[in-house]
Amino acid sequence: MEKTVRAHTNIALIKYWGKADSGLRLPLMSSLSMTIDKFYTDTKISDSTENQFWLNGVKQNGPSSNRVFSFLKILQSKFAVTGKLKVESYNHVPTAAGLASSSSAFAALAGAFCVHYGINLSPVELSRLARLGSGSASRSIYGGFAIWQKGNDDESSYAYALDEKPDVDLQLLVVELNNRQKDLSSTQGMKQAQTSPFFMPWIARNQIELEQMINAIKANDFSTIGSLAELNACEMHAVNLTAQPGFTYFEPATIKAIKLVADLRRLGIECYFTIDAGPNIKILSQLKNVKDITNRFVSEFHNVNIINASFGPGISCLN
Ligand code: DP6
Repeated sequence: MEKTVRAHTNIALIKYWGKADSGLRLPLMSSLSMTIDKFYTDTKISDSTENQFWLNGVKQNGPSSNRVFSFLKILQSKFAVTGKLKVESYNHVPTAAGLASSSSAFAALAGAFCVHYGINLSPVELSRLARLGSGSASRSIYGGFAIWQKGNDDESSYAYALDEKPDVDLQLLVVELNNRQKDLSSTQGMKQAQTSPFFMPWIARNQIELEQMINAIKANDFSTIGSLAELNACEMHAVNLTAQPGFTYFEPATIKAIKLVADLRRLGIECYFTIDAGPNIKILSQLKNVKDITNRFVSEFHNVNIINASFGPGISCLN
């Protein structure tokens, strides 16, 4: 029986947003993420007479299937293996919303590829492979906090665990404000962002904030972790707004949510936000404040869906 590989989504607290080499997916900056428990992808690969990709039980054609198979082709030639493959993936996200992430998808795919061909790799080697499918996937090999060191070639660019079982009271409230498919993929968005006059300062800031974030995590300092994550996300979105031409992932509801986080903080309910390549926000908070934050969001937004996530595990084989 073919084995299923499970990889969890990660959310970057210090973002990857810019490539030095788009073919190898080498980033211009190192990044740091939190792997979360609630969202994950299960993937199984078996032999087939034709290449086929099934997602949540539905056969896929077009861009998503092409991306999967161009990635698998790279891996097949790397390991000198051949054959047509059936890929079956299930994205476990609580709703049908646009919260599915390429981080769990490509980490699970890299893992399922190795299981299928009986290739035994260390976590670092697997992280390198996953990176070739999607940069953020390099970090989903690990649970807890992971760092993707940018490196300068295929060999040196991989993620490692900073702390797989952190003892920090850190909750991530994923607030689904809008479930529309995003117009601009991360791959396209970060390419466009490089035209911003603030792009070089962004890279420099990222390096400083990464070091500060590592120290804050080691010191178990929630306030610094949260405020640095928020600052870093705002800087990433500032380079988007100032790109030539400028763009944003924010929707009106995103701005309303940002202001609500600031309001809650003024009321003494400590929380911070981070935002990725889409309109939804993720709130960093401590357990004691989850209820108040959730109630406030539910009363301010119609039909808001909030998922209370925390640290998730690294990649694993299920059967
Ligand atoms: C905003 O990993 O999706 O989530 O390497 O082009 O597939 P590609 O990009 P992807 O970008 C993630 C961007 C981000 C920040 C992050 O996860 O670090």
